[in-house]
Amino acid sequence: MLCQLLLCATATAQIRSGELWPDDNGQHINAHGGGILKYGDTYYWFGEHKSDHTSDALVGVTCYSSKDLVNWHNCGTALSVSDERGSDIERGCILERPKVIYNPVTKRFCMWFHLELKGRGYNAARYGVAVARRPEGPYQFLYSQRANPGTWPVEFLTERAVAAPLKADTKAVLDTLDAAHFRESWTPAWLKAVGEGLFVKRDFGTGQMSRDMTLYVDDDGRAYHIFSSEENLTLHIAELTNDYLHHTGRYTRVAPAGHNEAPAIFKHEGTYWMITSGCTGWAPNEARMFSAPSIWGPWTQHPNPCRGPKQELTFGGQSTYILTLDAPLTTVKSRYIFMADIWRPRHPSDARYIWLPIEFEDGKPVVRWRDTWDVK
Ligand code: GAL
Repeated sequence: MLCQLLLCATATAQIRSGELWPDDNGQHINAHGGGILKYGDTYYWFGEHKSDHTSDALVGVTCYSSKDLVNWHNCGTALSVSDERGSDIERGCILERPKVIYNPVTKRFCMWFHLELKGRGYNAARYGVAVARRPEGPYQFLYSQRANPGTWPVEFLTERAVAAPLKADTKAVLDTLDAAHFRESWTPAWLKAVGEGLFVKRDFGTGQMSRDMTLYVDDDGRAYHIFSSEENLTLHIAELTNDYLHHTGRYTRVAPAGHNEAPAIFKHEGTYWMITSGCTGWAPNEARMFSAPSIWGPWTQHPNPCRGPKQELTFGGQSTYILTLDAPLTTVKSRYIFMADIWRPRHPSDARYIWLPIEFEDGKPVVRWRDTWDVK
């Protein structure tokens, strides 16, 4: 009996990527494309609720809580979709990759997510923002829109200030760019133009497209929204206001025309590391990795950090978040946990989770497959 209990205790202390992860009701955790907030001594996992037959949002953003990252309590729906016709978050919209950060000044929990308006496929390409007084919610939806209308990325400007004039050479290039000139996509000329800002210019007035995303709070308390923009061809990193509810207007482009999605980020010994995916929808592809000495770049690309079976397909998954643990390094396998989703588009609620420790080899992050591992 004692042996059985011990076995049981060991089994529940382990992370088993790709398997069913029951919550405290015995139901597979339904929090996809998610992220984690640590508040006090509790971890809160927020993610997309997926139903059995569609990936459209029929419920909203779910929240689970845990003290040990292994046993999860279902806290229910943190942000509910709306039954009001025409609401931005009307039931049946697409609401993906929610992330929550805590603002110590306003004492509010701030949720950002990728939002597509109901019935419009992936055309809206907006971010949405919601806020709550308690980590598990309920979250009140505030607004949705495209990113940074009327502002250029900082590297286009003479100074890194929002209203600074364009650099003369950048202006000369932008003047030549016109999306209507290109009949064909994916030609070398088109890719060059995208890299130079073809879509930034096209969307300057309405705001930049905003799809797959994460949030990052730096050591100095500044927060950033990192998202796939420009038809998913270029990542943007946009600074948030002090209340974490808006963009300041300062943003930078990462890997222009590089076609990256699913950004996840952490900082190790002063270097920012970002893991992303390519753009193949729900189908897995090879992870990419970038590093930079500052959040503002310059960002350098490195080889795929995954090691093990299906390493060229991110083990069958797609990145969603990297959790930085604040426990001392000696008590855990790694201070960083790479989190990914194994999507099941034909049975979305059955999608699985990959959580793996990030190790360092030759100074670079490596994500090695493990069937099971202990968080502690
Ligand atoms: C993926 C993206 C997911 C979802 C999906 C839809 O590339 O990362 O969040 O949007 O496409 O096909």
